Amino acid sequence: MIAIDGPAASGKSTVGRLLAEKLNFLYLDTGCMYRAVTWTALQHEIDLNDETAVTQLAHDIQMEIFPAKGEEDGRHYTVHVDGQDITWGLRTPAVDANVSQVSSYLGVRQEMVKRQRAFGQRGAVVMVGRDIGTVVMPDAPLKLFITASAEERARRRTRDRSDQGHTADYADILADVQRRDEIDSNRQHSPLRPADDAIRIDSTAQPPAAIVDAILALIEQNVAISIKVK
Ligand code: DC
Repeated sequence: MIAIDGPAASGKSTVGRLLAEKLNFLYLDTGCMYRAVTWTALQHEIDLNDETAVTQLAHDIQMEIFPAKGEEDGRHYTVHVDGQDITWGLRTPAVDANVSQVSSYLGVRQEMVKRQRAFGQRGAVVMVGRDIGTVVMPDAPLKLFITASAEERARRRTRDRSDQGHTADYADILADVQRRDEIDSNRQHSPLRPADDAIRIDSTAQPPAAIVDAILALIEQNVAISIKVK
């Protein structure tokens, strides 16, 4: 089990996915679960200020996340909600704008954490999110906390969004990244913060592949971690 946390667009998902590939571990990006609840709530026109209704929805939806199977649209995994493929709906500006609110609700978090732990029972996994090292898997033998400057993260998100054919304004995206950092770091339940024993990595000037190599070297060097990680 490897836990990776960090703020939006810090590179944690890319690092986590590459690491899982190299180690032949399962991979779970937990952000997509909060996004799936948000997308579905928007679809059903549920009032996002209605915590009870959003929490009920989080319990009710059937969610499946599995590796991409040869789709050629750049996806890294596929998400189904109630049997429908909603993978690309998860990255829309409407979801970006509302996911922090949805993920601030305790009942939503409890349900997602339960599902994440169940996923962790399937085998060795690299799990990526905000609270994996602190709440979901506090016993993970390797915990990483990946950050980058807000400006660099906004640049990355702007590039990703325009690569996907969406309009992307850097200033708007920077404001959204900063707003989400603020909400995610200051929320009452499971705020974004590194676990005490997490290794902190700044990805501002380092490409994901270099970070992955450094982590693999660390695992190699530290036999204790290596044994436990497997
Ligand atoms: O990593 P991301 O941008 O896809 O995450 C979307 C939102 O979900 C983010 O604003 C915070 C929330 N989130 C969370 O609260 N806990 C997690 N483990 C993962 C994501």
